[in-house]
Amino acid sequence: MNDAVPSNAHDAVEVILAKRDGGVLSDSQIDWVIDAYTRGAVAEEQMSALAMAILLNGMERREIARWTAAMIASGERMDFSSLSRPTADKHSTGGVGDKITLPLAPLVAACGVAVPQLSGRGLGHTGGTLDKLESIPGWRASLSNAEMLAQLDDVGAVICAAGDGLAPADKKLYALRDVTGTVEAIPLIASSIMSKKIAEGTGALVLDVKVGTGAFMKDLDRARELAATMVDLGTDAGVRTVALLTDMSTPLGLTAGNALEVAESVEVLAGGGPADVVELTLALAREMLRAAGVDDVDPADRLADGTAMDAWRRMIRAQGGDPEAALPVAREQHVVTAPADGELVRLDAMAVGLAAWRLGAGRARKEDAVQAGAGVQWHVRPGDAVTAGAPLLTLHTDEPARFERALAALEGGWEIGAVGTTPTAPLLIDRIAAD
Ligand code: URA
Repeated sequence: MNDAVPSNAHDAVEVILAKRDGGVLSDSQIDWVIDAYTRGAVAEEQMSALAMAILLNGMERREIARWTAAMIASGERMDFSSLSRPTADKHSTGGVGDKITLPLAPLVAACGVAVPQLSGRGLGHTGGTLDKLESIPGWRASLSNAEMLAQLDDVGAVICAAGDGLAPADKKLYALRDVTGTVEAIPLIASSIMSKKIAEGTGALVLDVKVGTGAFMKDLDRARELAATMVDLGTDAGVRTVALLTDMSTPLGLTAGNALEVAESVEVLAGGGPADVVELTLALAREMLRAAGVDDVDPADRLADGTAMDAWRRMIRAQGGDPEAALPVAREQHVVTAPADGELVRLDAMAVGLAAWRLGAGRARKEDAVQAGAGVQWHVRPGDAVTAGAPLLTLHTDEPARFERALAALEGGWEIGAVGTTPTAPLLIDRIAAD
């Protein structure tokens, strides 16, 4: 409990009415309502009314900062000040085929900056980093804070599950928003993401805010507003924060699915891999290094000379995984072939994400298991030439009964047109830093 606010200082109805009527919540009201909700003294229906009032009426910058601080104060804060190197983390708002964390964390570690990456599991059409890494035999996601610190000191990179102690108010509120139509409120998204990142104790943070059909934010203006809100929150809390707005109308790379994405990430670490995955990994690595104050290393050199791959192997081994072990492969495959000669002019991220999910790569409920080998592989990217009868997509699953619904998700999700007619869309759309 925040010591400054007595438990009877406010009541939930007063706070709901203030926001319902378009008012600005006081620091004391915010501290009280977050603390009382975490303790169970504000009922779920009261918090859902308040979340809806925030969605409809918004919050001022000062209110969002206080709300975020109150969520941080609901739990523990990690401290990496004993490390000899600076720290930088990355957060992506989530997209299809977004495996960037996997090559990025060891790459940045290989450049001398420690990466404390607390990740989540996938829910819905976007995959979760932990689900991807769990397809590596032996790898474990749960580390104690002491293990995390030791691995950061030794290897320089850790990707693990966030413990229950970090921003517990957010955990409760996020589950509530999910079932009350209030996920989309920008103040609530920004405070949710940033409370966890600030509590995690990173010195610098790079945000990858996705825009497009496969993203949480479909609209560029809203994505920009979310990015600016998060950059302000990080900056106000003393974390050097920068955001890149990146395209998510086309899925990233050539694969969506757990083991499929690990294999593609290893290709990037070996100096190959799809051009868009390499471009985004390097762009984010450069931003992380700059924000951490390291400007004398080019991450492209660390991919080329194998040191990023060495860091990957050490990072996987440190968490019990075998980086040399064969990755799981789904029992069944179904190939979709090109119906005509021409060019792939469109591949829709949402359609691919939904298909991968229906094949078993993702989960519908938190307690569901995922299939390590399931997912979608596309053999060409928009702009690539195709010939009639050549493989366009391969669907992978352990349960062939899943093919039908996955194929239905892909219907209308890709298009073959005349050569030279693919619209060009930049991957890196904008960069937002503190004013
Ligand atoms: N991710 C989060 O952690 N919180 C949100 O509110 C949305 C995405």
